[in-house]
Amino acid sequence: MTERKRVFSGVQPTGNVHIGNYIGAFRNWVSMQEDFDCIYNVVDLHAMTTPYDPAAFRSERINMARSVLASGVDAERSLLYFQSDVPHHAELAWILSTITGIGQLERMTQYKEKSDRAGQNLGLLSYPVLMAADILLYKVHAVPVGDDQTQHLELTRDVAERFNHRFTEVFPIPERITPEIGARVMSLQDPFSKMSKSDPNEKSRILLDDAPEAILKKVKSAVTDSDRYVRYDWEEKAGISNLLELFSIFSGRSIESLVEEYHEAGYGAFKIAAAEAIAEGLAPVRERMGSIEDGDVMKIMAAGAEVAREKAEQEMISIRAAVGLG
Ligand code: AMP
Ligand code: TRP
Repeated sequence: MTERKRVFSGVQPTGNVHIGNYIGAFRNWVSMQEDFDCIYNVVDLHAMTTPYDPAAFRSERINMARSVLASGVDAERSLLYFQSDVPHHAELAWILSTITGIGQLERMTQYKEKSDRAGQNLGLLSYPVLMAADILLYKVHAVPVGDDQTQHLELTRDVAERFNHRFTEVFPIPERITPEIGARVMSLQDPFSKMSKSDPNEKSRILLDDAPEAILKKVKSAVTDSDRYVRYDWEEKAGISNLLELFSIFSGRSIESLVEEYHEAGYGAFKIAAAEAIAEGLAPVRERMGSIEDGDVMKIMAAGAEVAREKAEQEMISIRAAVGLG
């Protein structure tokens, strides 16, 4: 039997898990379980690079793990754990930091944005090095993420190439896997910025456990344009195009068939139908969110970490040897 290719991805445990996370990342994580050897992380060490409340952190971490499980990641088939439970991530990040230029890190757009907002710290600057370590630790081939992670993935590939060149050919160069539609779900209140966990306006995002009435309210108040025809056109009609993508993803219908049906229906009717499709598509996730207990999550994460520590230790042997350690 040929070995299955490996996949790694991660999500930060900060509240407000939204349908952008689900569409850009989790949905792909779930579908890749069929054909790949999948490793998924709640990347709590990454979340510590911007101000956070330690008292709330524990429940944030558990809630994020619950959201990943509720989205359909199956701990029997995929390895799921908290990043901080496996010290090898931090060890490899240190090694990789010695071959990463500070200039390249300072040019990362997420660093610039976050340091403007939250202040600078060394962890925030080296965030992409830790992310490269997450991915390279397991010598993975593919990384399912949303569009906003493109620059981080490029840095990971650069670091892998540099390592292979400087030391020994240890790392495969990982590919980014991004969905064809939904790689960047936009805010419902501003279709020119991405839907985000940190947007102060709650109406900008649909949460994974929003009730159908809440979804309807948010979709009804979504910012569109002053025209009245439904068309898929990101230049002229970003708000409508965003809703069309969501409608298509959650209903399984093509964008063309939706445009054909709703072209002249008026925005009001279109929004109601879109909200219903989103609510229906999310119903199984919402139900599972309500039924997975904290204790179950903790057990799954502890078991995952145990397996991962062994796997990671095995993987580190060739990496340490390459750099003259061990
Ligand atoms: P984060 O919330 O930054 O931890 O992101 C977790 C995953 O969700 C990453 O793979 C992101 O690329 C993805 N993601 C976050 N926001 C969006 C969005 N608005 N559209 C599509 N994917 C997203
Ligand atoms: N930076 C990613 C985000 O904000 C999270 C992340 C950390 C990640 N390590 C990773 C994603 C490794 C993919 C692979 O979404």
